[in-house]
Amino acid sequence: MITEPSSPQARPRAVRSLLGLAGESPDRLRAILREAKSLRPVALGRAQPSDTLRGRSVVTMFFEPSTRTRTSFTIAAQRMGAGVSDLSIAASSVGKGESMVDTARNVEAMGADALIVRASRAGAAHIVGRAVECAVINAGDGRHEHPTQGLLDLAAFAEAMGRDEDFDLSGLRLAIVGDVISSRVARSAAIGFTALGASVTLVGSAQMAPAGLTAIAEGVVVEHDLEAILPEMDGVMMLRIQFERFAAAPSLVPGAAPNKVSPIASVRAYREQCALTVERAARMKPGAVVMHPGPINRGVELDGPVADGHAGPRSLVMSQVSWGVAVRAAVLADCLR
Ligand code: CP
Repeated sequence: MITEPSSPQARPRAVRSLLGLAGESPDRLRAILREAKSLRPVALGRAQPSDTLRGRSVVTMFFEPSTRTRTSFTIAAQRMGAGVSDLSIAASSVGKGESMVDTARNVEAMGADALIVRASRAGAAHIVGRAVECAVINAGDGRHEHPTQGLLDLAAFAEAMGRDEDFDLSGLRLAIVGDVISSRVARSAAIGFTALGASVTLVGSAQMAPAGLTAIAEGVVVEHDLEAILPEMDGVMMLRIQFERFAAAPSLVPGAAPNKVSPIASVRAYREQCALTVERAARMKPGAVVMHPGPINRGVELDGPVADGHAGPRSLVMSQVSWGVAVRAAVLADCLR
C-alpha cells in the first residue's frame, strides 16, 4: 500500500522564517542589521568562527541559478557553526518529477533546521513554509521578493551614508532604475528602505515602471525621466533587464518554438532612457553612491567604469556582496537561535 510520507517527528523548535520584508517590523529589520554589523568580522573571516548555530543544519534549495546568494548563505552558515548542504536540483529527484514541496518535506525529514529556497515562481517560499515546520528563508521567488538582498542593500547603503549606528535612513533618497516590474530585488529594497525612513523613486519606461508600483509601499513614487531625478538622489540602484521573466509569445509559424518577447526595442534605445552611463554618473550629487545587486550586464544598464568605481560616484557593488555574508549570518541567527 502506498501511503503519504509521515510528518517528521515533532521536535521542539524555536525557529522563525523570513519570507519577505513586507509586513516585517522596522524593529526586526534594525535588529538584523545591527547583528549583521557585529557579525561582520566573523562573516569576513577576520575573527574566529562563531558556534552560535552549532548542531544546526542548513540546506540550500535553489531551483534557479545563483552565485552571490547561494555562496554567501553557505559561507555564512559555516562561519556561524552550522552544518550546511547544497541540494543540487539538477542532480536531485526533481528531475524525476518530485515536487518542490515533497522535496522540501523530505529534506526536513532528514533533520534540516532551515531551508534556503530560491525558485522562479512567486510565492514559492511561502508554499514551502506552509508545508514544513523548520525555518524557511526566501532566497528570491520569481518577481516577488528577495528579502536578504534587501537587507544587505540596506546595510551597505547605511554604512556608506554614515547611518549604520541607528539604521535610520530618514531624509535620504534612493532611485531604483530599470526593469523594476520584473525585479524582486526592487520590491524588497523599496519595502525595506521606506520602512527605515528613506524615500524611494522607481524609474523606468512605462512598461518597466508602471504607475501602479507605488502600491509597493508608502513613500514609493514612480518616475520615467532618469536625467531629471538623478542629481537629487543619494543612491542609485541599477537593475538588470530580466529577459527570463518575460513570457514567450506564440510563433506565427505552425510547430515552431515560441518567440521570446523582448521587453526592450533595442539595447541602444534602453541605454538612452535607463542606463547609468559614465556621462550620466558624472551628474550625480556629491557623496551619492551607485548600487547593483548583480549580476551586471556591463554596457547595458550600467557602464563598467561606473560599476567598478573608476568613473562617477562611489560604487557599493562589492560592498553589497561583502555585506551579504554578514546579513545572511544574522538572518540565520535570527531565525534559528
Ligand atoms: N543578487 C543576486 O541575487 O545574485 P545571485 O542571483 O547571484 O544570487
